Amino acid sequence: MIKPDAVADGNTGPIIQQIEKAGFKILAMTKLKMTPEQAGQFYAVHNERPFYQSLCDYMSQSEIIPMILEKENAVEDFRALIGATNPAQAAEGTIRRLFAKSIEANAIHGSDSNENAAIEGAFFFPGV
Ligand code: RTP
Ligand code: MG
Repeated sequence: MIKPDAVADGNTGPIIQQIEKAGFKILAMTKLKMTPEQAGQFYAVHNERPFYQSLCDYMSQSEIIPMILEKENAVEDFRALIGATNPAQAAEGTIRRLFAKSIEANAIHGSDSNENAAIEGAFFFPGV
C-alpha cells in the first residue's frame, strides 16, 4: 500500500516503477481514502501501541493506493524493497529511504506474513 504522504507528494509513479523493476506483478490496484475506523481496523494489531491514534489519523488523512502484488518470496522481498520502518534506519535505495518523511509518514506498507497478506488483500479487494 502506498501511504497518504507518498500519494499526496506525487511519488506514486516512481514507487510503482521500483515495485515493477523488482519483479512484482500488480494483480489489483485502486485508490481510496480510508475512514479513521477502517484505518483502525487495518492496523488493529497495534491498538495497544502509543502511536495507534496518530497512525489511524495519518492513514485516513488522504488517499492511499492499495495493491495486491505477486512474486516468489513476495513478503520477504517486498520488506527488503521498502526498508526499515524508520527511514533513518532504512538501507540506501529502499523506498522508505527515498520517499519516507518520518517513522510514521513512511510512504509504504508491506504485509509481514503470507497469512496477513491474504487478510490485508481481502480487506481492500474482497473476492480477488
Ligand atoms: P507497515 O506495517 O506499515 O508496513 O510498517 P512496519 O511493519 O514497518 O511497522 P509497524 O511496526 O507494523 O508499524 C506500522 C506503522 O505504524 C507507524 N509507526 N509509527 N511513531 C512511531 O513510533 C511509529 N512506529 C510505527 C508507521 O507508519 C509504521 O509503518
Ligand atoms: Mg507492520
